[in-house]
Parts: sequence; C-alpha cells; structure tokens
Amino acid sequence: MTKPILEAAPPQAVLASRLPRHVAIIMDGNGRWAKNRHLPREAGHVKGISAVRKVVRAARELGLQYLTLYTFSTENWRRPESEVRHLMGLFRRYCRADIEKLHRHNVRVRFIGARVGLDPDIAGLIEGAETLTARNTALNLAFAFNYGSREELADAARVLAREAAAGRLWPDFGAADVQAALEEFARRERRFGGVVDGERSRGESALAEAGVRVLAAEVFDPE
Ligand code: FPP
Repeated sequence: MTKPILEAAPPQAVLASRLPRHVAIIMDGNGRWAKNRHLPREAGHVKGISAVRKVVRAARELGLQYLTLYTFSTENWRRPESEVRHLMGLFRRYCRADIEKLHRHNVRVRFIGARVGLDPDIAGLIEGAETLTARNTALNLAFAFNYGSREELADAARVLAREAAAGRLWPDFGAADVQAALEEFARRERRFGGVVDGERSRGESALAEAGVRVLAAEVFDPE
C-alpha cells in the first residue's frame, strides 16, 4: 500500500464540486532548474520525471478525470541532437518503468501528437501503452508528445474570442494597456521550442555528466 501523496484534507471535503474536468500542464523550466544547480540541462529533464510521477499520483488521488502533460513539441526537434536523444531515451525509460504501474492504478494512458517521425520502438511503446490501458477508468492521462503548436494557437484565439464575447476588450483598451502589453512582450524570451543560442546541452565536465547519471539512478531505480 503506497502512502497517499496528498497531505491536505481529502478532495471530498474541499474540491470535489469545483474540480475541473481537465487540467493541462506545460512542463517548462527543466533547463532553468538544472542551470540553477550548475547541472547540464538533461538533469532538469530527469528531475522532471519525478515531478510527472507526483503530479499524476496527485491527480488520481484528487479524482481528476483528465490530465494532459505537454512532453515534447514538434518545435523541440530543433534542440541540439544530444538533448533530443536524451529526451527520447527518458521517454523510453519512463514508458518501460511506469506504464505497467499506471495500468495497475487503473489509469488510461493516451498520447496525442504525430506518430510519424518517431523511432519505431517509441511508436511501439506508445501503441502498447494505449492498448494495455484502454479499458481503465480512474484517470485519463494524455501525453502531448510530438505535438504541434497550431492547436495551442487555436486555443489561445478561442480564449480571446470568449473574452471579447463576454464584453471585455476593445472599447476599454487604452494607452496603459498598450504599454503593459509591450512591456510584457519585451520581457519574454522567445525560443520557439529550441534553446537559447550558445546554451550548452551536454555537461561541460565529467562531474556534471555524473550528476545526471546519479539523478537518473535515483529517479528510475529508487530501491
Ligand atoms: C521544457 O523545459 C521541457 C521539455 C521540452 C521536456 C519536458 C520533459 C520532461 C518533463 C521529461 C520527460 C517526461 C516524460 C513523461 C517522459 P525547458 O527545457 O524548455 O526548460 P527551460 O525553459 O528552463 O529552458
């Protein structure tokens, strides 16, 4: 029996009536997490797997119906080859280590995104996971993997359209709003799925590489 991850009051007491049907999470910031610890970017991705596990478990315990995790976008292929290879390797390890457990916990796993362009063994892992868990009913877990950004743009447009339909927009817009929007834009660092030029992907030192290996061992073989 695993110890519940939630420390707060049970969902029945707090959340049940207000729980959204679907939560989608963009798992950003892995690189920054690693950089702050003087580790290669890959360490951030490894650590990201721990976060995936915690979040999936919490979602299941809370009784959420749908959870979508943005794992790898079509734009992410632009990253350095070594980082892409590492992410694909992590994906394989995650599938091999966790799908069976998710199945035991009655989680249905699906993958949204293009299958073309994926290595055949990865496509096989995806098919296998979907088939194995197809009848599960506790939580619908979707991994957006090799997904395109068009749908996100369409979603953003829908949100804006809803705001407009609700009467918020244009007539109340003024100079301060223009300035605020431009300042917000200026603060953004746009990388279009890639990484900042010159940002290294692999660790510069053997020590940093070793750090990734230790972290991976902790995450995948905790015993
Ligand atoms: C964005 O952070 C994150 C990704 C491109 C990959 C997300 C992947 C994981 C959390 C691990 C793999 C998960 C599974 C389920 C196999 P970033 O690299 O853009 O970070 P930054 O914004 O700090 O640079």
